[in-house]
Amino acid sequence: MQSPLFLAAALTLAVAAQPLLGQNAPAAAGQTIPQAQTGGRPRRPQPKPVNLKVLPKNIAREDLIKIMRGYAGSLGVECSFCHARNPQTHKLDFPSDAKDDKTIARTMIQMTQTINEQYMTQVHDPDAMPEDKHVTCGTCHRGNSMPEHFVPLAEPRRRPSDDEAPQ
Ligand code: HEC
Ligand code: HEC
Repeated sequence: MQSPLFLAAALTLAVAAQPLLGQNAPAAAGQTIPQAQTGGRPRRPQPKPVNLKVLPKNIAREDLIKIMRGYAGSLGVECSFCHARNPQTHKLDFPSDAKDDKTIARTMIQMTQTINEQYMTQVHDPDAMPEDKHVTCGTCHRGNSMPEHFVPLAEPRRRPSDDEAPQ
């Protein structure tokens, strides 16, 4: 049986791994990370997220970016599908909420979390592989920003084993 922790993993990858970065204090974009927090290694300054409303606020930057790449790949889109550009610099303004698709994505993140936490944990299917134990963005989206319409065949194909089923 899978641990419930596993089920939450898709959205909350190794969030607790970096307690030093786990402060919720707002940080200015472009803020440098003190060397004490990078284990003494010099690192290119990375802005801390300042506008997380559904993902854990103390998430490590690299986990956040991994999750974001997952969204982009699952929907077959670029970062700019959800993130608006700064009109002056033309660079992506990640904290901005100007695009509706970012707002929709927040609802989708919460929906996916609820499905996994409240429903998938109740399914104990011996046939399921570990990767079947939770839904992801890709379960529905399959590389499309809008999930494709699926129309079931009017007459299901008969399988040999159907002949053995009671009528
Ligand atoms: C399907 C929509 C979607 C795509 C595609 C996407 N993001 Fe995001 N991104 C979000 C949402 C939603 C949030 C806010 C999450 C929250 O509120 O907890 C976010 C937040 C962020 C943040 C934190 C900004 C802040 O300071 O609050 C960064 C950085 C980020 N995304 C980078 C990226 C990068 C880089 C890519 C491309 C690899 C990307 N995103 C692709 C939806 C998306
Ligand atoms: C249970 C199925 C399902 C899952 C899981 C799911 N979505 Fe969706 N998503 C949909 C459906 C259905 C729509 C179309 C709904 C609408 O636009 O009214 C949609 C629409 C969207 C849109 C708007 C697309 C557009 O072109 O307007 C975004 C963005 C999105 N989803 C992001 C995500 C992200 C990110 C995840 C994972 C955190 C996710 N979705 C997980 C079913 C799902």
